[in-house]
Amino acid sequence: MNPATAHACQALMRATEAERSGHLRDMFAADAQRFEHLSVSWNDWLLDYSKQRVSAQTMARLHGLWQTADVPGWIARMRAGDAINHSEGRAALHIALRQPAHMGPIMHAGSDVMPAVLGELEKMQRFAAAIHGRHWRGATGEPISDIVNIGIGGSDLGPRMATQALAAFRHPELKVHYVANLDGADLATVLAALQPRTTLFIVASKTFTTQETMQNAASARHWLVQALGEIAVARHFVAVSTNLVEVARFGIDPENAFTFWDWVGGRYSLWSAIGLPLALAVGCDNFRQLLAGAHAMDEHFFSAPAEKNLPRLLALLEIWNTNFLGAGNRALLPYSQSLGLLPRYLQQLEMESNGKQVDRQGLQLDCATAPILWGEAGTNGQHAFYQLIHQGGRLVPCEFIVCKQPDFALPGHHEKLLANCFAQSEALMRGRTLAETTAELAASGMAAEQVALLAPYRSFPGNQPSTTLLLPRLDPFTLGALLALYEHKVFVESVIWDINPFDQWGVEYGKQLASRLLPVIAGTAPGEHLDSSTAGLVAACRGH
Ligand code: F6P
Repeated sequence: MNPATAHACQALMRATEAERSGHLRDMFAADAQRFEHLSVSWNDWLLDYSKQRVSAQTMARLHGLWQTADVPGWIARMRAGDAINHSEGRAALHIALRQPAHMGPIMHAGSDVMPAVLGELEKMQRFAAAIHGRHWRGATGEPISDIVNIGIGGSDLGPRMATQALAAFRHPELKVHYVANLDGADLATVLAALQPRTTLFIVASKTFTTQETMQNAASARHWLVQALGEIAVARHFVAVSTNLVEVARFGIDPENAFTFWDWVGGRYSLWSAIGLPLALAVGCDNFRQLLAGAHAMDEHFFSAPAEKNLPRLLALLEIWNTNFLGAGNRALLPYSQSLGLLPRYLQQLEMESNGKQVDRQGLQLDCATAPILWGEAGTNGQHAFYQLIHQGGRLVPCEFIVCKQPDFALPGHHEKLLANCFAQSEALMRGRTLAETTAELAASGMAAEQVALLAPYRSFPGNQPSTTLLLPRLDPFTLGALLALYEHKVFVESVIWDINPFDQWGVEYGKQLASRLLPVIAGTAPGEHLDSSTAGLVAACRGH
């Protein structure tokens, strides 16, 4: 944190000493209007943060951090195309990818990026039309029935998650699959159900050097060539990358290469041609709706007043839970089967962006940054890990996401889903005291001895903070806005923590060691530099 922000945080810490140990039950009892004071709507969305352990006064003081940390200045730098990703010397202009054509230029290194952005979108649209219209034919003249996206991290998680999220909008005939893992089981199980004649691969990699993706692409190419010959590659492989030289070297026709730019971070790239498998899965009109939703959230973030600004509110609440209440994690609990992959997607967005140890000056940070994000679709999580949230004694801020309307309307399901979602946040907030449990068990006719025995097990401390985001329904526009909401939340947090959210040096060291270990495992290099544990593991695998 910069000294001014750190100073403001220390003052806030002192001022909230009593409040921080308060119970949510008492906060609700003290203010009948608590929901009205601590909830906000945007279009037909509702964000209820009244079950967070925060008062309106504290929120007002947290809002002060926005100016102190100079969030407006950083937003301006981002929009101006400055190299705010300073450790890689890059801008972060993902907002350009969803800006509509009629709006003004977005400048980067002295030129407007919008013509290239819109041109690539057009190219995606033409390609999707050719696939959907069955004009694009494989090497044997048959239309494409299956798309396999090969990519990892940002080149996989966004389109994969959104393809599942928008299942209700899927193209009726085209099937889209995703392969990411270096483990051959991933590719092999997908290919087992496919025919080379009707399969098209998208090799998606910003760098086109990522080991997992290159290995999977080489194996997929081998599978295709064995069946249809080398000549088939041009009709069955397309690529999405910033590295068109490597794409050409792989043997992919430059005509079939879609590009994006170094000012798009991997985890911010769903909006670029990395979204191609999604555009194929749900159609380009729906993909454009996703972009429109994200753009609407951009505009909201840039212009909404403090108390109504959703990314700002979510960021301040996370700062509160992390740096003031000491929570080291946050559970993301979408009560939506379609949003089942959202926790995984946000793990990369939030933890790869803000899991940092040094500030923008390279100095060791003196505050906690991104909490561990975890979660699972409700109600499945209720039957797995909610026990720990209710009675495990840890502080677990929870974030519920639920839609007013279902995306698959089976009679009897949605009311129960809503009831479960709201009941969980109520139980986490309220808890149940020993006295209440005792009274309830006694009223049920249980013998006094049994009541005394069981009441401690059946009591709940409550006071577990939560936010509920109530969405109208899960459609492309809403999903786009939801993802952009999290992108901006992450950005605000990074500014307050004074870190660069756009680099990811932490993942490099492991990659480097893996390349050094590979020849040792293959038996072509000695392993005497290894520690005894690593050497022991390698030795145990030799010969297998
Ligand atoms: O995990 C590190 C990372 O660099 C991510 O940031 C990125 O999304 C992923 O690898 C994949 O990279 P690429 O798109 O270059 O294959």
